Amino acid sequence: MIYPLKTKTPEPHIIVIFGASGDLTKRKLIPAIYQLFINNHLPENFAILGTSRTKLSDDEFRGRITEFLPATDEPNSEFLNKIYYQSIDYDVNEEYIRLKDRLSDLNIKLNIPANYLFYLSTPPNLYDLIPERLAIANLHLQTDGFKRLIIEKPFGNSLNSAKSLNVSLLKNYEENQIYRIDHYLGKESVQNLMVTRFANGIYEPVWNRNFISRVEITSAESLGVEGRGGYYDHSGAMRDMVQNHLLQMVGLVAMEPPVVIEANAIRHEVMKVFQSLQPIKPEDIGKQVIRGQYTASTIKGVATAGYREEPGVDPASHTETYVAMKFFIDNWRWAGVPFFIRTGKKLPTRVTEIVIEFKPTPHHLFAQGGLDQNTSNQLIIRIQPDEGLLLKFNMKEPGAGFKVNQVNMDFHYSDLANVKLPAAYERLLLDCLMGDATLYSRGDTAEAAWNFIQPILDAWTNDPSIPIYGYPAGTWGPYESDNLIEGDMTWRYPCKNLSDDGLYCEL
Ligand code: BG6
Repeated sequence: MIYPLKTKTPEPHIIVIFGASGDLTKRKLIPAIYQLFINNHLPENFAILGTSRTKLSDDEFRGRITEFLPATDEPNSEFLNKIYYQSIDYDVNEEYIRLKDRLSDLNIKLNIPANYLFYLSTPPNLYDLIPERLAIANLHLQTDGFKRLIIEKPFGNSLNSAKSLNVSLLKNYEENQIYRIDHYLGKESVQNLMVTRFANGIYEPVWNRNFISRVEITSAESLGVEGRGGYYDHSGAMRDMVQNHLLQMVGLVAMEPPVVIEANAIRHEVMKVFQSLQPIKPEDIGKQVIRGQYTASTIKGVATAGYREEPGVDPASHTETYVAMKFFIDNWRWAGVPFFIRTGKKLPTRVTEIVIEFKPTPHHLFAQGGLDQNTSNQLIIRIQPDEGLLLKFNMKEPGAGFKVNQVNMDFHYSDLANVKLPAAYERLLLDCLMGDATLYSRGDTAEAAWNFIQPILDAWTNDPSIPIYGYPAGTWGPYESDNLIEGDMTWRYPCKNLSDDGLYCEL
């Protein structure tokens, strides 16, 4: 099995995980580091120092982690021996001196230079405090080795808080020490978007307003808030998914070709897209942005609670679990082309995909034979699951006359046998250890994304006349979102399998 990541390994280092007793550490970070380790992507000398408020010994922490490593493997003692733990009281300056002493001990004991990656997997209110305290202990200085920060999402809760977080971080750190993670950018299929566009001569010439009638991005989840009600009720789909994952995908679909495949060149192009997002006028927000919240229903015969009944959620909550919106990008390439994006929880299936809808032929030669406006060519870029590409085009039905039918040409990543797609966190952690920020958001792009959505969030808070629509759990969201798309056009209703679509196909 090929494991297609970098050929070079990072320098010896220590990864310090803040919030080490939390869910993300167990479910994503440790398993990702483990995969990098067993696939020989890490240097011989490296260590992980978990830290959080909980008091644990090294062995207790190792014990907690073991159950999240692949079930088929024997506990890998070589890996577990690289894991250490130290509790911390985040507010107390002296605790960071204690942390520094522990790191120095590990440096000597394990023969590792002072290369530290600080991973902030804590509640967001600590994203400025921890880096600031690290700096008071001089743990930000790169004189004796690299010092990098990975900041989990959400990066801010509003435009203002994102701005102040940037200001606070940049007081002590250079931009190239700060890695703002958006795990969608670590997905293999999201990166393939750039390859599809820029390594094929056939797409780029038609990738513009002259040939494309609209772009549609769907990121649907069948799960609900899964015990995260307390967090989610203060966030909602706009902050949780649109501000980051969906807008990053818009950036990659819409950007100009970068000069080189390199962090700043790509992020510069994404930034230009974000700067060109046409602000949605206050009076249009109710029409162009549809918000919804799932209500109780029966899914496949099983009674399912509504969002307001979820633990941690205010029973009168107005938080949106669904957003669909229409907007434009004001630049030469995209002027006049509507972008439709939607995301929601408790939808019929889990799927993320981008649909490029091409303009119909100028003259409908075969209209009598059954071809109508809905059979324009579509290119579907499937991000997950069943990653791949699908082109929908028209063919003559065999037989008399000219009856036209739409058919599929599809490529599924799974056809590339023998390749294990690395998980997003594996790719992103390794990139950060190598000092490559290409797949991380830059401070200014994070702010630009907030700048676009903040007026919508403000309107929702301040204008009670903007409705929040209920939709029964297990359906495709409020039907009002269909009205966003003009005429008799509608969203594509994707299924698990890339080549299938239709409202009811998962039943
Ligand atoms: C996270 C959101 O960033 O992305 C979650 O906080 C969401 O609410 C998740 O479920 C979706 O990620 P993926 O990789 O499962 O599509």
